Amino acid sequence: MATINDNYLKLKAGYLFPEIARRVNTFVEANPDADIIKLGIGDVTEPLPQACCQAMIKAVEDMGDRATFKGYGPEQGYGWLREKIVAHDFQARGCQVEASEIFISDGSKCDCGNILDIFGKNNTIAVTDPVYPVYVDTNVMAGHTGPAKDNGEYQGLVYLPINAENRFTAEIPRQPVDLIYLCFPNNPTGAVASKEHLQAWVDYARQHGSILLFDAAYEAFIADPAIPHSIYEIEGARDCAIEFRSFSKNAGFTGTRCAFTVVPKSLKGKAADGSDVPLHPLWNRRQSTKFNGVSYIVQRGAEAVYSEAGQAQVKELVRFYLDNAGIIRAQLTAAGIGVYGGVNAPYVWVKTPKGLSSWDFFDKLLHTCNVVGTPGSGFGAAGEGYFRLSAFNSREQVNEAMARITRAFSV
Ligand code: MLT
Repeated sequence: MATINDNYLKLKAGYLFPEIARRVNTFVEANPDADIIKLGIGDVTEPLPQACCQAMIKAVEDMGDRATFKGYGPEQGYGWLREKIVAHDFQARGCQVEASEIFISDGSKCDCGNILDIFGKNNTIAVTDPVYPVYVDTNVMAGHTGPAKDNGEYQGLVYLPINAENRFTAEIPRQPVDLIYLCFPNNPTGAVASKEHLQAWVDYARQHGSILLFDAAYEAFIADPAIPHSIYEIEGARDCAIEFRSFSKNAGFTGTRCAFTVVPKSLKGKAADGSDVPLHPLWNRRQSTKFNGVSYIVQRGAEAVYSEAGQAQVKELVRFYLDNAGIIRAQLTAAGIGVYGGVNAPYVWVKTPKGLSSWDFFDKLLHTCNVVGTPGSGFGAAGEGYFRLSAFNSREQVNEAMARITRAFSV
C-alpha cells in the first residue's frame, strides 16, 4: 500500500479558518434567520477596481481573436507586468530590484509555502507568536518540525513572542536561526515595523547567513510615511531577504488571484558541499517545473493597478478599509475595550473583554451579536486573550457589528 507523508498527521486538527467556518455553519443551521456579520477571514468585500475589470474584459477579447490569442505565458510572468511592478513598487521607493527578480504567481499564501522547496531540511526556523498559520503549517508538512507540544507549539521551531510590551515586533533572537518569517504590516496584530527595527533584522541576517522571508501582502495599508513598504528599502536586504507581495488586499484580487515574489539575484544559500549557491536560479527552476504561470487575463488586470485610473481606484479602496478599521478602533475604545493595530493595517487586534479566552469570546460574539471574528489563540499561544477583527466589509456591516458589540460588551 502507498505510504503517506506522515508529517500531515502532526498538524493540529484544522486550519484556523475552516474551523471558524465549521462553527459558524453549525450556528447558522441551528439559527437560519440569524443575520451574521463576518469580520473573520481577511477577505475583501468591495468590487474590483473598474480599471482592472476593463483591462480583463479587453484581455478576454484578445484571447478570442487569433491575432492576439495567447497560449502558455512565461512561468515567471509577462515582462510588461514585471516591469511595471519594479518601476512603481520598488524603483519609485529607491529600491534596487530588477524585473527579472520578480516572479508573478497566483498568491502569496502559495509562494510562502512553496518557497520551502528550495531550502534544505535542517534549517532552524523562526516564526513570531502569534503568527499567520501558513508559515507554521507548511513547515510541519515539509517535515521541518517535530510533533506539536501540549501548548500547541511544534518542536523544533523557534517562537518569537510579540506582544503589547514589544509593540508586536519580535526581539532579535540570541541564537542563530536560518530562516525567519516576518510579516509587516502584521497579520494578525496589525502592527508595523520601523526602519530601525527592520535594519536590525537585516544586520542580524547578514551576520548569521540567515534568510528573511518578508511577507508584505498588506503594504498598501501603510499610512505613516516613515514606515518602509518593502524590505529592500533597508540597506543590505538584497543579500538576505525574499519578499512576498499580493494584489489580493490592495486591489481586491482574493478571488481573482495574482501576487508576486521577489528573489534578488544576490541572495545565496549553502549547498551540502559548503559552497554558496544563488537562490534565484533555484526558484526559477522550481517555478518553471511546477508552475505554468498566472493567466494572461488576470495579469492584464493586475497591470491595470499601475495605470493612473487604477492607482486612484486602489487608493480609494484601501482608504475605505482603513476608515472601517478606524471605526472599529474608535467604537471599541469608547466601549472600554483595548485595541491595537488598525492604523496602518486592515486588522484590529482586540484584547478580549471580561477576561474571556479567545475562543470563548468567539462563541459569545457569534451567539450574542451574530458577529464572526478570529480568535487570537488560533494564531499561536501568545494570541490567547486576543481577538482579530478584519476591516474588510461594507461600511453598513461594520457600523452594525460595532453597534451590536458595544451594546453587548461595553465595560
Ligand atoms: C487572513 O484572514 O489571515 C487572510 O485571509 C490570510 C490570507 O490572505 O490567506
